[in-house]
Amino acid sequence: MLSTIGLHGRYLNRTTLFGLDLHRPWTLLVLTGCGVALLLAASRADLVAAADAERRRIERDLHDGTQQRLVSLAMNLGITRASTTGLPDSAREAIENAHDEAKQALSELRDFVRGLHPAVLDDLGLDAALSGVTARCPVPVRLRTDLPQRLPDQIEQVAYFVVSEALTNAVKHAEASTVEADVRQVPSFSGRGRLRVVVRDDGRGGARPDRGSGLRGLAQRVASVDGTLHLDSPLGGPTTIRVELPCEL
Ligand SMILES: Nc1ncnc2c1ncn2[C@@H]1O[C@H](COP(=O)(O)OP(=O)(O)OP(=O)(O)O)[C@@H](O)[C@H]1O
Ligand SMILES: [Mg+2]
Repeated sequence: MLSTIGLHGRYLNRTTLFGLDLHRPWTLLVLTGCGVALLLAASRADLVAAADAERRRIERDLHDGTQQRLVSLAMNLGITRASTTGLPDSAREAIENAHDEAKQALSELRDFVRGLHPAVLDDLGLDAALSGVTARCPVPVRLRTDLPQRLPDQIEQVAYFVVSEALTNAVKHAEASTVEADVRQVPSFSGRGRLRVVVRDDGRGGARPDRGSGLRGLAQRVASVDGTLHLDSPLGGPTTIRVELPCEL
């Protein structure tokens, strides 16, 4: 953000910029407008980066604290369950229920933590993280990727969340029998390159961003990195989410 202000200030000392006469009031208006747009874009990106850092902290705290406690609670209950002899049926049942509940809580916590920030993204990159999320999906997913190189962290995260949310929605709402996900780097006219993410389910369609927070959240994430999101979901299906994210090739 500071560099933007610096650039803006430096250029305003000149009398012309890109052929524009800086002494004319409308020129300053145009430049001020550009500056504000750049500042807004930068502060949006800062906000998303701060939110991502906070998510990582919560993930670490949960992983190192609550999750470890639950693991030992479930193990202790398992040991107690296996060694109960001579207890009344009601007491044995209570221990068995407590053991099952502890395992369930652990599994839910693991899913939650995984959704906060997939560690595999840091370690192995988008391709491996997508293979994991599609393999866990209860609906069969045909995943195609063409990702010759690692992309900026933020772009990988946004792409991962797009695919995760689209798959979750296909399972939760679409009654789909198959999903196709295609994630690839493509060249662009500007030469900067784009990451294209297309997820299509063969379900009943009718997705409405105003009926939940998932699709709206995705649109905000995509906009925060100056990407575009198109949702096509006529009643009767299919549903297609197409996202394009800027990235250097
Ligand atoms: N693939 C889909 N097929 C059919 N309907 C969908 C699909 N995706 C979303 N919808 C509909 O659009 C609505 C909004 O989806 P959205 O993902 O924003 O919210 P949600 O899934 O209901 O809740 P969450 O905030 O947990 O994501 C859903 O409630 C559902 O009715
Ligand atoms: Mg959703």
